Amino acid sequence: MTDHKPDIDEATGTKFVGHEWDGIQELDTPMPRWWVYTFVACVVFAAGYVVAYPAIPDTDGALGWSSRGQLADTLKAETAARAPRLNAIAATPIEQLASNPQLMRSAIEGGRAAFKVNCVQCHGAGAAGSKGYPNLNDDDWLWGGDIAAIHTSILHGIRSPGSDEARYSQMPAFADMLERGQIQQVVSYVRVMSGQDKPTRGSRAGAALFAENCASCHGADGKGNREMGAPNLTDGIWLYGGDRASLTQTIAKARFGVMPHWSEKLDGVTIKMLAAYVHSLGGGEANPAPPAPETATATASPPAVDTASTATGAANVSS
Ligand code: HEC
Ligand code: HEC
Repeated sequence: MTDHKPDIDEATGTKFVGHEWDGIQELDTPMPRWWVYTFVACVVFAAGYVVAYPAIPDTDGALGWSSRGQLADTLKAETAARAPRLNAIAATPIEQLASNPQLMRSAIEGGRAAFKVNCVQCHGAGAAGSKGYPNLNDDDWLWGGDIAAIHTSILHGIRSPGSDEARYSQMPAFADMLERGQIQQVVSYVRVMSGQDKPTRGSRAGAALFAENCASCHGADGKGNREMGAPNLTDGIWLYGGDRASLTQTIAKARFGVMPHWSEKLDGVTIKMLAAYVHSLGGGEANPAPPAPETATATASPPAVDTASTATGAANVSS
């Protein structure tokens, strides 16, 4: 078939390549210039790229770039940008953080991020707590809700093994000290005290047992004691539950909740930021008024003022 075909296609004037299928012949149309130039440019670029960047495994590339290095640079820039803020937080005593609102705000943001990583597994995503793990949003505090008290709880932990400075107290297991009936009486009294039940004969007997066995930690009125981390039993907020079964369990066996100390796992700035964040959640209390400086100014400054005024007075009189 190919033998008698002409070399040139009459319609287009283009040469045939010489291939033919079912009477259809292939023309030798040249590639468009733009395509050829683009192709050559790509080849040149690729060659340059292979030399400049680590395109071949185990080579470094002439520019010395690596994705690892880029990440390190970004991190370094980020750390450098944050350094002044972190240094300022480090240099500010925890009680004074709130007096610099801008610093406090950035500490709260840093604390929010650190909380998500370190604390949510026990205190919950919204810090709302669960059985045995206190809610950090409310204003019911076991150990204190001003920022310094919160900071101490986080830094040293609570009953945390391996920390000498951890907050510590231990409610005894009353199964060894009271009869079962007496425990039920004291349970009844705690339920009356928390407004869940009306007083009964049992609860009245429980009140006497409470005064004898429990008031030393929970207070005569049952409102708790932050020095001992003894919860308020009257507010209807329960760490372990206020139903009879939970109360019986708590009183008979005791609980001994453990909050880890973070002084070894987190740096000081992060712990301050966590305290700022927890303090900001809604239950944060004002710093306790420092009594010592007040008395100091009361006794020290008036004489100083007196001498000054007497001196000026004397000067005025003499002139
Ligand atoms: C392993 C579980 C666990 C983890 C993790 C944990 N906590 Fe706690 N936390 C507890 C327990 C349990 C208590 C209550 C201890 C008690 O009974 O006194 C507590 C108490 C606290 C208190 C004192 C609350 C009060 O009412 O006085 C603060 C503040 C606190 N946690 C903050 C944090 C922060 C911030 C983190 C993260 C850095 C964190 N916790 C991580 C278990 C945990
Ligand atoms: C030595 C101090 C101490 C004494 C005494 C004591 N407690 Fe406690 N109690 C605590 C502490 C601390 C907690 C915190 C729970 C923990 O150990 O994690 C607590 C927790 C509780 C709770 C749990 C509250 C909640 O929110 O779930 C109840 C209920 C309670 N005590 C009742 C009693 C009763 C009733 C007595 C007396 C029979 C008593 N306690 C005696 C220190 C004491």
